[in-house]
Formats: sequence, C-alpha cells, structure tokens
Amino acid sequence: MIIAVDGPAASGKGTLARRLARHFGLNHLDTGSLYRAVAFRALAAGADPADPDAAVAAARQVTPRDLDDQRLRDEKVAQTASVVAAIPGVRAVLLAFQREFARRGKGAVLDGRDIGTVVCPDADVKLFLTATVEARALRRFKELQAEGGTAIYERVLQDMKLRDARDRERRTAPLHRASDAFELDTTALDADAAFAAALRFIGETKPRR
Ligand code: DC
Repeated sequence: MIIAVDGPAASGKGTLARRLARHFGLNHLDTGSLYRAVAFRALAAGADPADPDAAVAAARQVTPRDLDDQRLRDEKVAQTASVVAAIPGVRAVLLAFQREFARRGKGAVLDGRDIGTVVCPDADVKLFLTATVEARALRRFKELQAEGGTAIYERVLQDMKLRDARDRERRTAPLHRASDAFELDTTALDADAAFAAALRFIGETKPRR
C-alpha cells in the first residue's frame, strides 16, 4: 500500500505520515528532507543554490544517511530547500529515489508537496493537508520556542508566506491537491483528530491493488 500525504509547511503532514506508517507497518519517507539535504550540501559547498548546475551537483551527492542530520531542520535550510526544489534537474535526480522507496517491501507513506500528483500518482490513498498560514506559522513559532529559540511570530509568518508562494508558484511539480486526494483542514485539529480523520477516510477507500 502506498499512502501519499501532501501539504504546505507545518500543515501536520509529517506527524500524520509517521503515525500512519506505524499504524500500517509501512516505511516512511519525509521527502522534504531530500530537498533540505540538497540545500544543505549546496550551502556547505559555498555554492549559489539558485544555480541549476550547482544544485543538481549537490542533489547527486545526497545519500540516505544525510536525511537524519538535525541541521536540516534549520530555517535557512528550509528556505533554501524551496529554492532548489524549483529547479527541474534537482527534482529529476530525486524522483527515482522516491519512487524506488515507495515500491520497496509492503509499500510506504511518503509526505511532501508532489507525492499524489507526480511521485506516486497511483498511490492507494492520497491525503492533502491544509491549514491557514497563521495557524501553521503559530505551530512553527511554538516549536521554535520549545527548542529554546528567540523566534518572532511575525517573522515566522513572513517566512512561511514566502515559502508557500515559492512552493505553489513554481513551474515544475508545484504544490497543489491531486484531484483524487482527500483534503483535510487541520487548522482546528490536533494530531489525534487528524489521525482519526485520516483513518476514517482510509477505511472507506478501496485499495487499488
Ligand atoms: O516539508 P519540508 O518543509 O521539509 O520541505 C522543504 C522544502 O522542500 C519545501 O519548501 C519544498 C520542498 N519540497 C518539494 O518541493 N517537494 C516535496 N515533495 C517535498 C518538499
């Protein structure tokens, strides 16, 4: 079984994808960490991440071991990830890895921006998470505070709007809901309620294979 979970930053897709993977005994891939790893490698090399040649070279160096690095969670890396993600060559390099991951074993839960539309258009279940940008910025702000940071809410909100715009407006694989995806607005839902709603939807869905 393949489950695609897409949505904008801080919509709750990572938490939901991890819980679904545990529940169904499937592998889980946070595909955003791939783009973050490309960004991190480009920044570490002192390259211009908007330069397609440099970004594609960084994408070719990414290995699965890169993906657990805590430094990928940095806000600068997140912003740069959405810059490299707009480069078609970068997306092409990462596509094969994601598709292969999805097919391995019993299947997988993949979360990202284009899983239901491009990476796994035949996924058995497609979920598309949304939430207002203010609610998502507040979540991210609270996470940063909990980590002991000195974040300013207005700044977090502004960064999130910037990243949303880049992810939605790029030409290649922009963030949008697949026509057959179930949309779940998590603005007023906590993680338990989102998980319960997703399970209800999956229970009503006929597997494709
Ligand atoms: O989900 P995240 O915040 O870790 O993603 C970081 C960036 O990577 C995001 O701004 C856009 C990009 N991304 C993408 O273009 N396609 C994906 N499937 C996942 C992430």
